[in-house]
Amino acid sequence: MIKTQQVAVATVDKVLAGASLTAELQVSWRANPALSNQQRGAIQDLSYGVLRFYGQLDALLKLLLKKPLYDKRLRCLLLVSLYQLQYSKAPPYAVVDHAVSTARFMGGNKGIQGLINAILRNFIRQRTTLLEQAALDDEGRYSHPQWWIDKLRLQYPQSYQAVLEADNQHPPMTLRVNRRQIGVDEYRELLETAGMPVQLLWNNALKLRQPVGVEKLPGFADGLVTIQDAGAQLAAPLLDVHDGMRVLDACAAPGGKTTHLMELAQVALTVLDNDAERLARVEQNLDRLKIKVNHLICDDAAYPSQWWDGKPFDRILADVPCSASGVVRRHPDIKWLRRERDLLKFSASQQVILNALWQTLSKGGKLLYVTCSVFAEENRWQVEDFLYHHSDARQLPLTQVGMIDGQLLPDSQHDGFFYTLLHKT
Ligand SMILES: C[S@@+](CC[C@H](N)C(=O)[O-])C[C@H]1O[C@@H](n2cnc3c(N)ncnc32)[C@H](O)[C@@H]1O
Repeated sequence: MIKTQQVAVATVDKVLAGASLTAELQVSWRANPALSNQQRGAIQDLSYGVLRFYGQLDALLKLLLKKPLYDKRLRCLLLVSLYQLQYSKAPPYAVVDHAVSTARFMGGNKGIQGLINAILRNFIRQRTTLLEQAALDDEGRYSHPQWWIDKLRLQYPQSYQAVLEADNQHPPMTLRVNRRQIGVDEYRELLETAGMPVQLLWNNALKLRQPVGVEKLPGFADGLVTIQDAGAQLAAPLLDVHDGMRVLDACAAPGGKTTHLMELAQVALTVLDNDAERLARVEQNLDRLKIKVNHLICDDAAYPSQWWDGKPFDRILADVPCSASGVVRRHPDIKWLRRERDLLKFSASQQVILNALWQTLSKGGKLLYVTCSVFAEENRWQVEDFLYHHSDARQLPLTQVGMIDGQLLPDSQHDGFFYTLLHKT
């Protein structure tokens, strides 16, 4: 446990200083090549868990400390240990003993080791009272930054608590069955025979009762299924593609929706993304599903003159970069890395991309604007502004289950997304 605590502490410390959790875990794997798969799994659980509940753990720590602790690593060690005490099955006194050993290993003297021991034992003794006190303030109660809670409360007075709670759950693992290769019922049977029960959500979306490694999924390498959240699986069908159409997937990587589009119809697809590394992942996904695409372009969607041949597209998927506030349970670091002012930056770049792509759409064509955000600045208000400035744009009604004005809020079945289908008149 000491090694896992140590690596988790280093990872959380880097993330709280501004690094991305996914990137930082890769750094940790490279720095500790001898870690077993089990240790990696434990480190991942600890790091994700601490960031998922950071608001609560931080509030507990403030209550437990008599004066501020300036050593960031020790503070992270306490956060990791509190998370273990509150959310893991590890025996409490083993967590405390290991935390003391980790503190010693990190260079902490006897005084520091004693402090770690005393704080964690105090938590064990006064757990109920401390948890109640921590929940008195919003950040301690919901484990989101205050500005985020305030914004959700304002924009969703009826459902903001459900959104905050859904954000702190473990994300579901959902599969999209490739209907070109196998029927949904047939694939479901394959899974259930292999001991993996699922729930059919909608269309081709099967939610696994328990997440599993992809190597366990029957036919994954042969392209029978793709891992994709059920909310994301709505995009391609909404775009209403038909054989022979010219289609642009404008912000395509890593290609979850690209492959779905190609499963639905034989279209002439242009795949665009401005990130070469991410675009390479689209290629891998296309290869696995044995799909051929002629135009894979690494360029900026905001500058069509650099990549567009001038022939209008019949359909455009604009899955624009956004705050990712609808998928924070998959990336809990985002809650603590984003700043409120970032929404203005995202909203400005979304506006530029949307305006640019509109010029490349044919008359009578459709553009689907998508974000995985829950904030109106990137969604409803963005579209209202676009419609105000574009007299040739008409918003088509979307009536999918669970959507209100195109907004899908995260819940136990799917992540949070926003969809708007625009028709060029
Ligand atoms: C939300 S992700 C897309 C997810 C993807 N559609 C899928 O379903 O797998 C947004 C993508 O937009 C790309 N991107 C950001 N700014 C861009 C720009 N100006 N032009 C083109 N792509 C951009 C990012 O690299 C990122 O891959």
